[in-house]
Amino acid sequence: MLASARPDVRIHPSFEAMSEAAAERVVAILHAAIRQHDRFTIALSGGQTPRYLYELLATTYRAAIPWRKVQLFWSDERYVQPDDAHSNYRMAKEALLDRIAIPSDNVHPMPTLLPSMEEAAEAYEETLMSYFPGQWPRFDLLLLGMGPDGHVASLFPHHQVLEEEARVVAAVVSETADPPQRLTLTLPAINHAANIHFLVSGQGKAAAVRLAFAPGATIAAAPASGVKPVDGSLIWWMDEAAAAGLKT
Ligand code: 6PG
Repeated sequence: MLASARPDVRIHPSFEAMSEAAAERVVAILHAAIRQHDRFTIALSGGQTPRYLYELLATTYRAAIPWRKVQLFWSDERYVQPDDAHSNYRMAKEALLDRIAIPSDNVHPMPTLLPSMEEAAEAYEETLMSYFPGQWPRFDLLLLGMGPDGHVASLFPHHQVLEEEARVVAAVVSETADPPQRLTLTLPAINHAANIHFLVSGQGKAAAVRLAFAPGATIAAAPASGVKPVDGSLIWWMDEAAAAGLKT
């Protein structure tokens, strides 16, 4: 599916080179968005791959970014305390938030302290609807990673959430995930972003890349094959190790 869409795949020799090139592009999109509508909205991805990119934004590019015009959201979150080692918010706090002067009102973590995940998903949908007109949030940029099993955000293979067509944010329990309880943007919410960037690194992801780019890829088996911007751009940032999956 992806192969037929002729996606924009940018391959770099190392994780560092990939992250540095991606960071440069992120900042270009940021400035263009601020020129266009005086703000930049970004959905951060979790896991470990984006950490270096976040660190680059907090150091190399810190002075070049008008942080008061930036609105930070998340594409998914583990349903844990914000200071939990598994928390995507905690990773971003360490790599980025603690090192920049961004107004706290501009930082919108997914709420993981509510009595239920369903309430949290509904609360985050309301947050997003207050920042974006219309049914779907249109992030200026949405970052995604991909797990070795091919999951994207917290959209896991063969999970019912992949068929969601109305909800913006879903509560997910996946026995294959650690931790299993998650909040995630749904595929239609992801696909309404103006720019979607995957960051995929390491040989451990090569098999998932192969599956996602295979001509007969199905969303159930390869959720990434369901990431197709409705009206936006898609860039896959890879290092050579992950991109090995494109060669076979
Ligand atoms: C999460 C992430 C998830 C992540 C992939 C890759 O909450 O786990 O959002 O989708 O992007 O699991 O994770 P790594 O970057 O750590 O390989």
